[in-house]
Amino acid sequence: MPDLPAGHFVFLFTDIAGSIKLWEQYPQAMPSALARHDALVRHAVEPSGGRVFKTVGDACYAVFGAAADALAAALAAQHALMAEDWDQLPLRVRVALHAGHGGQILLTRAVLELIGERLPPGVESRDLGERRLRDITRPERIYQVVAPDLPSDFPPLRTLDLRPNNLPAFSTSFIGRERQVAAICALLRRADVRLLTLTGAGGTGKTRLALQVAADLLDDFEHGVFFVSLAVIRDPALVIAAIAQTLGVQENGNPSLVEILKHYLHDRQVLLLLDNFEQAVTAGPKVTELLASAPRLQVMVTSRALLQVYGEREFLVPPLALPDLRRLPPPELLLKVTAVALFAERARAVQADFALTTENAPAVAEICTRLDGLPLAIELAAARCKLFSPQAMLARLTGTSGQSSLQMLTTGARATCRLANRRCAGRWIGATTCWTWARKNCSRGWPCLWAVARSRPPKWCAIPATIC
Ligand SMILES: Nc1ncnc2c1ncn2[C@@H]1O[C@H](COP(=O)(O)OP(=O)(O)O)[C@@H](O)[C@H]1O
Ligand SMILES: [Mg+2]
Repeated sequence: MPDLPAGHFVFLFTDIAGSIKLWEQYPQAMPSALARHDALVRHAVEPSGGRVFKTVGDACYAVFGAAADALAAALAAQHALMAEDWDQLPLRVRVALHAGHGGQILLTRAVLELIGERLPPGVESRDLGERRLRDITRPERIYQVVAPDLPSDFPPLRTLDLRPNNLPAFSTSFIGRERQVAAICALLRRADVRLLTLTGAGGTGKTRLALQVAADLLDDFEHGVFFVSLAVIRDPALVIAAIAQTLGVQENGNPSLVEILKHYLHDRQVLLLLDNFEQAVTAGPKVTELLASAPRLQVMVTSRALLQVYGEREFLVPPLALPDLRRLPPPELLLKVTAVALFAERARAVQADFALTTENAPAVAEICTRLDGLPLAIELAAARCKLFSPQAMLARLTGTSGQSSLQMLTTGARATCRLANRRCAGRWIGATTCWTWARKNCSRGWPCLWAVARSRPPKWCAIPATIC
C-alpha cells in the first residue's frame, strides 16, 4: 500500500445497503451509481488525509492515520451521499468502522478512544453496548455517531446476540460466496422450503457457508437459529437427542424425547442447522417427523449425501471460483477470485508479509486450480507458505520433470490411505478425517492432503496420491 499515513491506522469501510436487490431491480442504473458512489467516497476520504486502498464490488476501504480524520471523512462521505440525487435509486450507504444501518456511522470503543477529545463540535457518541459481530470472535462495544444534521434513530443493530442462537464464532474471515449466501437465504425465506440440504464433498465449505447463512437469517427466525453438530454421531438414533440437547430440551419421564421435542418446537419459529448428517443419514425420517409436527420449523442440513426424504431440497455447494490460467489478470484483480483470495488470506495468517505479486501469482493460481478450488485444501496448502514459496510448493506438486501431478502421484499415499483405513477399522472416513490423520502421520502432508481432498466416497482410498 503506497504512501500510508503515519500514526495509528484507522479503517473506514463503506457498503451499499441491500446492493444485491438493487442490482436485480436497477441493473441499468447501478453501474453509474456505483461509479458516483466511489467518486464521492474518494472525495470525502482524500481531503481528510486518508487513502482509498481497495474497492471491492460496492464497498470502498480507506485507511487513515488518525481516528478523528476517519470520522471527519465518514461524516463528509455520508453528507455527500445523502445530498446526491440517485435518480430514484433508493441508495443508502453504510459508512462504518464496523457494520451499521444505511445512513448510520458506528465506531468501536478502540476508535472512540483514539478520537478522544477530537469529536467535532455538536457531534456525540451514543453507547450501543457490547455486541457480537459476525466474523468477530469477541464482543465489541459499539458506539453510534450522533451528528445534528444526520439521522440518528435506527432500528436495533442486527448483531448475533439479538435472537437466541448458539452459532460459533470464527477466528478466520469468511470469503466470497455472496451469490450462494443470497440464493440459500432466499430459499429458506420461502415458507415451502422446510428442509434444505447443502451437499458437496468434504472440505467444499458446506459448514462454513451454512453458518454464514444461519447468521444472516437470525432476524427471520423469531425463536432462534441453532447449530447442531452431528460430527461425532454414528448412531442415527442419537440425532434427536443431539437436537434436544442443543435446544436445552430434557427428557422428563413418560413421553419419548421425540414427542417432547415436537411439543417444544410446535409453536416456535426456529431454524435448525444439522451439520454433518452423512453419518446419520438414515435418521432422515425423524427430521421429517419433526417438520410435520412443527409448522414454523425449518431445517438446513449439511451432508455429503442427501437424506432422500419427502420435501427435501438440495443445494449443491460448488467449489470456490477459480482464475482462468490462460489469461491471468494482474495480482490486485486476481485477488478478487475467491479461491486466490482465500489462499492469500490464509497465507498471510502464517506469514504476515505474504503478498500476491506478479512473481508468485501464477503459482498461487495454479495451486488453487490443482486443488479444485476446495477451501479445506487451499487453507492447508496456504498454511505451508511458512515453509515454501508458492513457486516451490507448485514445483513439489507437479514434479520437476514436468510430469502432471496425477501421473507422478502414484504409490506413496496409497499406503497412507490404507493405514488410515486400517486405523479406522474399515469404517468409511471422510476426506477431512483422512487428511487430519495423514497430516499428523506424513512428513509431506500437504500433497497428500491434495489427493485426499480430491477424493470422493466411496472410492477415496483408491485415488492415487503422492509420496508420504
Ligand atoms: N467461504 C469461505 N471463506 C473462508 N473460509 C472457508 C470458506 N469456505 C470454507 N472455508 C474453510 O475451509 C475449511 C473447510 O470448510 P468446511 O465448511 O468445514 O467444509 P465442509 O463442511 O464442506 O467439509 C474450513 O476451515 C472453513 O473455515
Ligand atoms: Mg462440514
